[in-house]
Amino acid sequence: MNEKNIIVGLDVGTTKVCTIVGIQGGDSELEIVGIGTHPSYGLKKGAVVNIDQTVNSIEGSLKEAKLMSGLEINHATIGIAGSHIYSFNSTGVVAVKDKEIKTSDVDRVIEAAKAVVIPTDREILHVIPQEFRIDNTKGIKDPVGMCGVRLEVHVHIVTGSVSLIHNLVKCVEQAGVTAEHISLQPIASSESVLSTGEKELGVVLVDIGGGTTDLAVWKNGSLIHSQVIPVGGNHFTNDLAVALKIPHKEAERIKIEHGSVLKGSKEQSSHITVQGLPGSAPREIPLNSIAQVLGARAEELFNIVKEIIVDRGLNHEITGGYILTGGGTLVHGMPEFGEYILQIPTKMGLPTPFGGMTNIMQHPKYSTVLGLLLESSKKNIDHSKSSMRKGHQMDFLGKLSDSLRSAFREIF
Ligand SMILES: Nc1ncnc2c1ncn2[C@@H]1O[C@H](COP(=O)(O)OP(=O)(O)OP(=O)(O)O)[C@@H](O)[C@H]1O
Ligand SMILES: [Mg+2]
Repeated sequence: MNEKNIIVGLDVGTTKVCTIVGIQGGDSELEIVGIGTHPSYGLKKGAVVNIDQTVNSIEGSLKEAKLMSGLEINHATIGIAGSHIYSFNSTGVVAVKDKEIKTSDVDRVIEAAKAVVIPTDREILHVIPQEFRIDNTKGIKDPVGMCGVRLEVHVHIVTGSVSLIHNLVKCVEQAGVTAEHISLQPIASSESVLSTGEKELGVVLVDIGGGTTDLAVWKNGSLIHSQVIPVGGNHFTNDLAVALKIPHKEAERIKIEHGSVLKGSKEQSSHITVQGLPGSAPREIPLNSIAQVLGARAEELFNIVKEIIVDRGLNHEITGGYILTGGGTLVHGMPEFGEYILQIPTKMGLPTPFGGMTNIMQHPKYSTVLGLLLESSKKNIDHSKSSMRKGHQMDFLGKLSDSLRSAFREIF
């Protein structure tokens, strides 16, 4: 099998590392052939804090995925998050050389938009065009082939700490895999969860993971804001452990089996038995107390989200509301509670089924890794298309004299 057709998404999360292997045939149908998940040790709030533990966790996930797919994994698209991520919008303007806009003009205008002062300890992860403007015409998505004299672009730029990005890449490479592309996790999750219509209408994707909550704000089909909040599902668990004086493992079990962020319902008046700290006897705890603790954390988290959206003046842009994904979303009552705080329709978002194994993959904790796989697949298609184009071009150019060759290169 041609190695180019093996597509891999690798999500190194705070609680789990997940690898998905896909095969892309000539007709571009993507089929999922392997999945590997392993508990993640070595990350805190989305950032690597222990290289050896992270490498071991990645290796565990890769081993499982290799075994299931029967394929070697040499490269992958990886996701990144963490509170070191900082994003902003920028613009660039250039004069069009020959009245008709070419790919080279688009490249130049994007370069111009990137020409902002970025501290030396940060690097650019994404430059995502939002819209192009030609002379006085706004809202253009693809300007190539159009006529004009002045080309302007509005872009969303995502940056991250050089050392934290390199730490993650180092871990992946020590596990024997080349990090082919790096993508911001909420952008990847958006790819698998959101429809084109939702991105057009204006939505906020909220990926509540274990260590972070990642936001991606979409409007008119473009990413207009992204941000990482250093609060996730683990904080809900820690709060329970502290408030109920129980071990972390027991708090995680209670959150998953009995947790809710909605207090006051009829069922909440019953009690459950919890195992206390070592040496202490089991105790009876009312479900309402658990809901009170989890509800307080959810209220804080949704208020942070609301503040970010309001402060950036984006409230009126999100006609389609909030879409929650990530494992942390599964605490009972999250969408309802979110809607109550955010005062805008809020729902749970699952990955859109594709490529088979959808019964396993239809879980909010797989949104990021499936998005990474989709992004990788798109890049693979783009790459083969451009090499095909280059191939044709080379055949054609090979037959021309030197003087004509340079003229044609300019045109193509
Ligand atoms: N059924 C469930 N009910 C409640 N919470 C759950 C459930 N399943 C998973 N979680 C919570 O989801 C969180 C993990 O989510 P996810 O797998 O999306 O995170 P991650 O990708 O590892 O972390 P991050 O994206 O922050 O780096 C944990 O806090 C876990 O307790
Ligand atoms: Mg995650």
